[in-house]
This record gives sequence, structure tokens and C-alpha cells, in this order.
Amino acid sequence: MKASEIITVAFPKGRLLSEASALFETAVGVSPAKLLSGTRKLGVVDRRTGLRFLSIRAADVASYVEHGAADVGVCGLDVLREEPRDLYEPLDLGIGRCRMIVARPRGARPLPRGVAPRVATKYGRIATEHFARKSIPAEIIHLHGSIEVAPSLGLADAIVDITETGETLKANGLVIEETVLEISARLVVNRVALKLHGERLRRLVAALRQACDAGRG
Ligand code: PRP
Repeated sequence: MKASEIITVAFPKGRLLSEASALFETAVGVSPAKLLSGTRKLGVVDRRTGLRFLSIRAADVASYVEHGAADVGVCGLDVLREEPRDLYEPLDLGIGRCRMIVARPRGARPLPRGVAPRVATKYGRIATEHFARKSIPAEIIHLHGSIEVAPSLGLADAIVDITETGETLKANGLVIEETVLEISARLVVNRVALKLHGERLRRLVAALRQACDAGRG
């Protein structure tokens, strides 16, 4: 297989790795997690399928695919909505399910009318759009992690963050006020790659769709 025929897949490290890997294993018979484990290389090629898997931080997958460093990727809807990209999103993989929520300290009194809530979050755009839709003039406080501790330290009145099991919220005395967005991982495809490798990419998408359906069934 010529180098130009290889399809590069930006594969997320972290939370999505094992579920996404299981889907690919069902779909194309290769486990990216196994292929990438124990190597310090950024990418590994599977000769049989002609797929190259890159091990990428989940938050960077969309950039790799948008700019053509990868043809395809697996990316959470939170990342895609926080930083919109010019990408084709053909498939909801149904994995990495979680929710973007607004949470406040348990028992906190409602803020007086006209007082802008201070909202700590990593997701500035999503939070800004959410409060704007509700005509609430929130003050967004940008943090990079450990969002849940912000209210107890007096840094914020509320947070916008992701929750999966709810354990982190509970441990920090927070309760969910509302859901902003239901999240799952999406397959994303570079628009030029779709023209270059159209038929093979369509087959890959179809195989992954089947693997998703089998997983749900
Ligand atoms: C996410 C999120 C919460 C936690 C929620 O953080 O920001 O802190 O998971 O999960 P739970 O509802 O199951 O307790 P992540 O572990 O992705 O790391 P981060 O601190 O870098 O955001």
C-alpha cells in the first residue's frame, strides 16, 4: 500500500480510548488501544486495513482532523460545540455518554434579581451561549480543571461542567440545576479526505455504524 493510500485516524487518549477501541475492533478487526499500547510512537500503521492510528489528546482530535493531519477522528460533542470546526460529522458513536450541566451548591439561596451569577467553567462558549439564551447576564470565569471546587472557595456561584456518574459533584456538595447538552462521541471526517478516500471512508463509516448498532442491540 502506498503512503498516500493510508487513512490516518486521530484516536483519543483517556476516557474514550477503551470504548472507541472496542468499536473499531468490531468494525474493522483492529484494536487501536492494543496497537498503540506500549509504544512511545505517536502513530502506528495497521498494514492489513491501511489505517494509521495516532494517539492524540481528546481535546486536540478535532484540530488534527480539521487541518488534515488526520483524515478521521473520534471526538466528544463537548469539544465540537465549544470550538466549532469545519468538519463532516457523519456518525454519533453513542459512546462516552455524559451531560453538560449547570450545578450550584446544595441549598444555595437564589441570587437576587439583577445580580449576574459568576459561573466557573472550561466551556466558555457553551456556557455563554446557554445563559444568553436565557437572557441571564452571567460572568464567565475560565478555569482549566477542578471546576467543582470553585463554588466552595467563593470563586463562583455556579459551574458549567461535564458529569458522568455525578460522584464529583456530590463530593463537592453540588447539585444539578439543569442540563445544557447531552454529550456523546462523534466520528469526524476531514472534508478533503472525504473526496480523496471517498469509497473507503464510506465503508469505514458503514462498518462503524454497524458496530454501534450491534453494541446498542
Ligand atoms: C470530568 C469533569 C468532572 C468529572 C465528572 O473531568 O470535568 O470533573 O469528569 O465525572 P463524574 O460525574 O463521573 O464524577 P475529567 O476527569 O475529564 O478531568 P478534568 O478535571 O481535566 O476536566
